[in-house]
Amino acid sequence: MTQAADSRVAHLPTTQYFCPSGDYDEMWRRADQDPEGFWGEQAMDLDWFKRWDKVLDWKVPYARWFVGGKLNLSYQCLDRHMKTEVKNKVAFYWEGELGDSQVLTYAELYRLTNNYAAALKRLGVKRGDRIALYLPMIPALPIFMLACARIGAIFTVVFSAFSGQALADRVEDVEAKIIVTSSGMHRRGKILPLKDNAVEAAKRCPCVEKIIVVKHTGHNVEMDPSRDVWLNDLLAGCDEYVAPEHMDSNDPLFVLYTSGSTGKPKGILHGTGGYSLWIAKTMQWAFNTDAQTVWWCTADIGWITGHSYVVYAPLELGLSSVMYEGAPDYPTLDRWWSIIEKYGVTILYTSPTAIRMFMRHGEEWPAKHDLSSLKILGSVGEPINPEAWLWYYRHIGHERIGISDTWWQTETGGFMISPTPGIQPHFLKPGSATKPMPGIVPAVLDAEGKELPNGQTGFIVIKKPWPGMLLDIYHNPELYQKTYWSRFPGYYLPGDYCMKDQDNFLWLLGRADEVIKVAGHRISTAELESAIVGHSAVAEAAATSRPDEIKGEAIIMFVTLRKGTPPSVEIKNELTRHLRATIGTLATPEEIFFVNLLPKTRSGKIMRRLLKAVATGATVGDTSTLDDGASVDEAKAAFAELS
Ligand code: WTA
Repeated sequence: MTQAADSRVAHLPTTQYFCPSGDYDEMWRRADQDPEGFWGEQAMDLDWFKRWDKVLDWKVPYARWFVGGKLNLSYQCLDRHMKTEVKNKVAFYWEGELGDSQVLTYAELYRLTNNYAAALKRLGVKRGDRIALYLPMIPALPIFMLACARIGAIFTVVFSAFSGQALADRVEDVEAKIIVTSSGMHRRGKILPLKDNAVEAAKRCPCVEKIIVVKHTGHNVEMDPSRDVWLNDLLAGCDEYVAPEHMDSNDPLFVLYTSGSTGKPKGILHGTGGYSLWIAKTMQWAFNTDAQTVWWCTADIGWITGHSYVVYAPLELGLSSVMYEGAPDYPTLDRWWSIIEKYGVTILYTSPTAIRMFMRHGEEWPAKHDLSSLKILGSVGEPINPEAWLWYYRHIGHERIGISDTWWQTETGGFMISPTPGIQPHFLKPGSATKPMPGIVPAVLDAEGKELPNGQTGFIVIKKPWPGMLLDIYHNPELYQKTYWSRFPGYYLPGDYCMKDQDNFLWLLGRADEVIKVAGHRISTAELESAIVGHSAVAEAAATSRPDEIKGEAIIMFVTLRKGTPPSVEIKNELTRHLRATIGTLATPEEIFFVNLLPKTRSGKIMRRLLKAVATGATVGDTSTLDDGASVDEAKAAFAELS
């Protein structure tokens, strides 16, 4: 792996950004040597109701930033712009899948946020209460996020492609009092029944008192008057100003569920002060934004990318953004490129999966449109292969502009490793996320925790806290400690492989654990396994992945069926349906293989390494600890027969 990455470095061209003056090395050194001085200065750019008493309180594994400081993120995003020319600027250009559109200025967003906040208060929502937001990419979603932040309610956004059951798991864990949903959502010309899923979750979770429904699709929706309320009815008469709560810098802002090594997703808890600062600064540094920027982050708000870089950071910086509801290739393959032309987008931030999909459809689609407004491109979510990087660079950027490949995670709040054209020019290498942000001190370790020399692949760790770092795992501090801080004590463990090359450029090489990235969506083998064994025909199951040309990785499952259920195409389809109903469409396996036995160690642990080798056609390697060699051969045979 190391060698392959090194030879890529040698063969591919480097490109240079146009950049303003700045001194990356000096900023990085300063943040490393004097973090309190550096971040104290940076934090002066936020509006504080009360200044902090201490910049950083760091007791492994908890970092508390701007201790004693008081602020409100909705105030950073809205109120403070009401005193400047940003007030009448466009905050969102919203584009619906059906071709409808809406333009929201900062002043309008401010008014609506106050109205929504008043409506929530009218329902009895108080500071610290939890609200689940299960909405498609429509303006109501950012407005509810801002309204919750305004009144100090902790929100959890649940991606609209998750099933009713997956929604219920999250609602139950966070004990949400209210679910906000929409009548439905548009996807590739179809209407998906979000409200029905919300009802399914509410029935399972006694904590839910109300479902607020945003009318978005025309179809008939059944309402239970004791529980369900239309947003429009709720808003009637809610036109007053709602004073923003003075939140403590370390008060929780939101919980976002993500996959790890356990069967249940964990609630990543983010705070207020450090998070607000981190996302705004990293956005400026990675994308050199200014007053003329028209930003388009194509991520769904249901993921961290959407939280930090569709909603909060662009609003904090007073930028205009595009927000698009629908599928990238609907109704035609040039939908995205027509949106860029229509709104004069200057920065496009998207995923390698999307780039690879467009690459397959051919450059004639972007070529139909004038993309000359673009100034910088961005990539996120999974490693970008050099071929996709170069296609993006050539056919979207026309070899004029650079690509900020940003490596980060739900847990990190914002970008960690990325080019920084907002600070200083530096060279790019296709496929490398380049250098750490100021404040980020990474190292590459071997399995024993020894720092590896440049050129070798190991585990990336982050040696010091940074302002966007998660506060905790929601009501599970033991899991927080165990997941991120136990393997290499004192260091944050992201769970990715990494290699630092001879120029100190970092290459993020994919997950080192049981997390699978399907089209950039994070899902764990444990989650898939516990979902599929919930089906009465399944005795045992193991999930793994294999590389996929478009999606990065594809889910492969090995299943043993209970006596009495013979393998068949019908049961395979049934299990796929079951996974989609339990988790959501992102859990669709590429293939399900039926075997009599799963390969296990003598102590009964499934040897996933072997299944992965079988699924990817690699050599199986050492099987000395295997209990029954036949099961590997069987898995191989099942795979060979069906693939
Ligand atoms: C992967 C998404 C390589 C990585 C923001 C990480 C990347 C996981 C990149 C987090 C990138 C994200 N290059 N890998 N530029 N960006 N990843 O929590 O494996 O959904 O650990 O956050 O995505 O996924 P998450």
